[in-house]
Amino acid sequence: SISCIHYLGQLHENSLLRVALDQITDGKLQFTRLEQHFDTLILGQADQRREYHIHAGKTEMAASLKKQFPGEEEAIDEFMRLMKLASRRTPLIAILKIIPYWLVNFLVRTGLLDLISSVFRLAATNHSEMMSRLTQNKDLHALSAYLFYGVPPKESSFLINALLLHHYKRGAYYPRGGASEFAFHIIPVIQRSGGAVLVRASVQRVLLNQQGKAYGVTVLKGQEEIEVHAPVVISNAGIFNTFQKFLPQHIQDKPEIQSLLGMVRHGMGSFLVFVGLDGTKEELGIVSTNFWMYKDNDLDSLMEQYSSLSREQVLGNIPMMFITFPSAKDPTANIRHPGKSCMTLLTMARYEWFEEWEGTKLGKRGQDYLDLKNGMAQELLDWALTIFPQLRDKVSTPLTNVHYLGAPRGEMYGAEHNLERFTPETVARTRPQTPISGLYLTGQDVFCNGMAGALHGGLLCASAVLNQILYIDLLTLKTRLKHRQTNHKLT
Ligand SMILES: *[C@@H]1O[C@H](CO)[C@@H](O)[C@H](O)[C@H]1NC(C)=O
Repeated sequence: SISCIHYLGQLHENSLLRVALDQITDGKLQFTRLEQHFDTLILGQADQRREYHIHAGKTEMAASLKKQFPGEEEAIDEFMRLMKLASRRTPLIAILKIIPYWLVNFLVRTGLLDLISSVFRLAATNHSEMMSRLTQNKDLHALSAYLFYGVPPKESSFLINALLLHHYKRGAYYPRGGASEFAFHIIPVIQRSGGAVLVRASVQRVLLNQQGKAYGVTVLKGQEEIEVHAPVVISNAGIFNTFQKFLPQHIQDKPEIQSLLGMVRHGMGSFLVFVGLDGTKEELGIVSTNFWMYKDNDLDSLMEQYSSLSREQVLGNIPMMFITFPSAKDPTANIRHPGKSCMTLLTMARYEWFEEWEGTKLGKRGQDYLDLKNGMAQELLDWALTIFPQLRDKVSTPLTNVHYLGAPRGEMYGAEHNLERFTPETVARTRPQTPISGLYLTGQDVFCNGMAGALHGGLLCASAVLNQILYIDLLTLKTRLKHRQTNHKLT
């Protein structure tokens, strides 16, 4: 499950991601490219504010950075080289999830793994450490890790941060019609293949037979619990939900499951605000570029301080925000909602700030809850309006926000993407197969965060269930399509 799709990369013609998405949406999902200048990073406050522009393009990304950071050419070249290496060699990381554990252990213990490729070292090195070897420029440090997902750079894997930025190197895209188009086009493909899609049928538990093998799930239909039987159960609900919510206590307590849960942590939650605006993109002067704001360039201490705040200290101290205009990224928005636009604001939030109200019904959470929620929303909006003062009188709807998905602690990207998660042992252990026979994991917790990460989780899971490496099929298909396209161009 993914909260929102803000933008996707690696969707250029015949990319692996494009070919895979075409397969699962019958080629019906279309994308619109964002401006080449797809992200703006704003560091600092008031008259100290610095703005950096991130451009897509094979050579343009580095070129524009060099223009903005004179004197840092060498560091930027090296960063780009490592980014490319990370991207090219990531399949080796995925292989750790496919080969047997004993082989992974053997490769780690003998040190052979590091000889195979330096990508494993990139995965296990913290971002701040790696960047401090490249440059002393603090703004450039911040820029190399601006795509936030809740982990401070010093606790995050260099590989993941490099992959995130690399993801957009060939361009950033938005699904035409909005994020709901994914489900809209995937569902018919599932149904055509004999599947069914249930909505408002939340899973209650995984059914296990006498031998402990999974044979289905129960779902709620109104108040009634209904059994759904299946030869294989695949969970996209994340490691924590799957093991802690859906399995009986005596199974959860098994050492294999406890050790797996001990390897991952809950990711940080997100806080989203949706703002309706009166006016078209042109009238409001808004663009498809996204904005990432940090009040300071030291992202390590900024995030550390923020996440150590108590609930009472949050208001007035939000140090980071993401701003995006979904309607400006979607050419159909104008047709669907003429004369209207929308803006989404996002920041990170600790589950603990809202924990007190866990289990209480929406609308019954009292004044403290509303004060915190509305206060945070207002603070983000006020901050956004300092960047876009022209929107001040155009806010049309009351602020609405949702902050929790089905995630047990509001995580927006599933289990936390801290450094430990990318050590070879954890990479190998968090694979689709689980200690429960017949039960598999898919999605973000299997590989990594985001839409592309979840898709790779799905590919790894399908490969495990079918006992066939689907990446090979996908690469074959990609080659075939490429030949077909070349032939078309020739004739
Ligand atoms: C980052 O890596 C360096 C070098 O291995 C280490 O000294 C430092 O403690 C690490 N930082 C964190 C927060 O783990």
